[in-house]
Amino acid sequence: MSNYKDEVHLKVQEKIYPPEDIVKRAWIKDYDEVYKRSIEDREGFWAEVAEELHWFRKWDKVLEWNFPYAKWFVGGKTNITYNALDRHIKNGKGDKIAYIYVDEDGNEEKVTYSELLEKVNALANGLKRLGLKKGDRVSIYMPNSIEAVVSMLACARIGVIHSVVFAGFSEGALHMRIDDAKASAVITATYTKRRGRKIPLLPTVEKAIKDLDYIKNVIVWDRDKEGVTDKDDKYVDLNRLIEENKGECSPEEMDSEDPLFILYTSGTTGKPKGVLHTTGGYMVNTYYTAKIVFDLHEDDIYWCTADIGWITGHSYIVYAPLTNGVTSVIMEGVPVYPHPGIWWEYVDKYRVNIFYTAPTAIRMLMRFGDEIPAKYDLSSLRILGSVGEPINPEAWHWYYEHIGRKRCVIVDTWWQTETGSHMITTIPSYPMKPGKAGKPFFTIEAAVVDKNGNELPPNTVGYLVIKNPWPSMLRTCWGNPERYEKYWKEIDNVYNADDLASIDEDGYIMIVGRADDVLSVAGHRIGTMEVESAIVEHPDVVEAAVIGKPDPIKGQKIKAFVVLKVGVEPSDQLKKEIQNTVREILGPIAIPEEIDFVDKLPKTRSGKIMRRVLRAQELGLEVGDLSTLED
Ligand code: WTA
Repeated sequence: MSNYKDEVHLKVQEKIYPPEDIVKRAWIKDYDEVYKRSIEDREGFWAEVAEELHWFRKWDKVLEWNFPYAKWFVGGKTNITYNALDRHIKNGKGDKIAYIYVDEDGNEEKVTYSELLEKVNALANGLKRLGLKKGDRVSIYMPNSIEAVVSMLACARIGVIHSVVFAGFSEGALHMRIDDAKASAVITATYTKRRGRKIPLLPTVEKAIKDLDYIKNVIVWDRDKEGVTDKDDKYVDLNRLIEENKGECSPEEMDSEDPLFILYTSGTTGKPKGVLHTTGGYMVNTYYTAKIVFDLHEDDIYWCTADIGWITGHSYIVYAPLTNGVTSVIMEGVPVYPHPGIWWEYVDKYRVNIFYTAPTAIRMLMRFGDEIPAKYDLSSLRILGSVGEPINPEAWHWYYEHIGRKRCVIVDTWWQTETGSHMITTIPSYPMKPGKAGKPFFTIEAAVVDKNGNELPPNTVGYLVIKNPWPSMLRTCWGNPERYEKYWKEIDNVYNADDLASIDEDGYIMIVGRADDVLSVAGHRIGTMEVESAIVEHPDVVEAAVIGKPDPIKGQKIKAFVVLKVGVEPSDQLKKEIQNTVREILGPIAIPEEIDFVDKLPKTRSGKIMRRVLRAQELGLEVGDLSTLED
């Protein structure tokens, strides 16, 4: 841990105050007071929030905490799609636009709340007709699109557990996720659009499910009407399924603790864990954090640039914007195609008020120069969000000045797949410190501790932990309760986020980075062991070790150390082949940019690869304790 200390600028102390009009409009103006009250009566606080949503049956008890297992809104019955759709329609807002879909070519498609419900109902009916029922799993491998949102909501409507897999993942990653969840069906599309090209998705699904005989159906969004589903009864055309099953589908009355979805995320082992979220707590927590942190109001236009394949997409493209009843922009494509001003063009065109993105994108767009955003009218913006990795003060200031034009606030939201919703951030009415995420959200008690759980003095780097349960916390890891319990048992019975952080004298928390062997490449979580396992699939490779190296734009890039079979000569050709192997198994985001061929890897006497030794050597840092090194 000591290595990190020197890298960190602990003295970032600059405070920036929010503009008066933003404070005036904010739902909550007195963070400190509300926070204090929320800690004194955590359950009362969340009960009040939950009252804003619709329940078929009210809960008997707000929280049942049976360490480390929590149940929230015990006995309550609800359906998140009812709160996301029907509730607004009943309140006369059916004609309001729910999503504006845009792509790289300027194509646009709008869907109102009523139209969205109609599609969701029809697909939910269709899924039922295919034999799917509450508790079954369906994997979704889709482009960032309205069709993807409809697929997720149709599952949630009838209690089917969705497991969305990011469409940038390849065959191996998809196979593992489908097989672990034992999905009965997969919903996919013929392709996704990226940089003017069509990236095929269906062929990847077909390879991934080759040996999985429990998959009953593959439902395909046949984007160019190629008739791809005609070949076999197993294949079903998504649009036809919707068309043929129109009509009401009453929402399943879900118990608060009924599973809503599984989302796989990388950890320290080679196999990603299936983070399980349930219905009631997730709904309440995502709804309220979006409302307060983004200060969502009735007429807001909101744009989160994430992909539905990540937790940010689940919580803050799909569920929370809908439960809050706002209009969202959803884009299929990359931020620099067809030109590096495309995002600002759309902010201008759709008069976006709240814009939520990742530091890696900001750093990338910064490089194209200040003139690019300067060409657009960005005066509609009020709140700028950041998520996924620490935002360095330089990128923070660029975002603040060139996008926000010093009239906006930045909310730097720290959270995880596991936490389900925002945990640490400043709210819009509160002073910001560039480079520091901010303060714990209401009811959350965060601390920075050592390995034994002792709190560390201000400005000291240690483990970031959460001391209490919260409504949208993960409930378990699918099929692996031991892994779940580890989150709470590793450090003194508090939730260990596996991040390093420090807290300053004012209580602002700065996130330093991951404490475990997880990389953050362009804000995406990638496990070192996952990449290593993919590399050794290459027939010439014996072993591999992977580390992250600092990268000015992506935060980290992947470097691999590879041991070849005896007699195999290292070559550039071989490097390319290894990169291709990783691309095929995991996907482009996991490709090691640098590869070094080595004779052997540093290991502990028990045979574990000591990645920190490689990292220290590579970055010229102190190697630290070597007592466990093999030789
Ligand atoms: C990192 C993404 C610094 C952190 C929502 C965490 C951040 C991991 C921030 C979770 C932030 C997320 N500042 N670091 N504002 N937000 N992280 O599960 O290391 O994809 O543990 O969830 O991203 O990544 P995940």
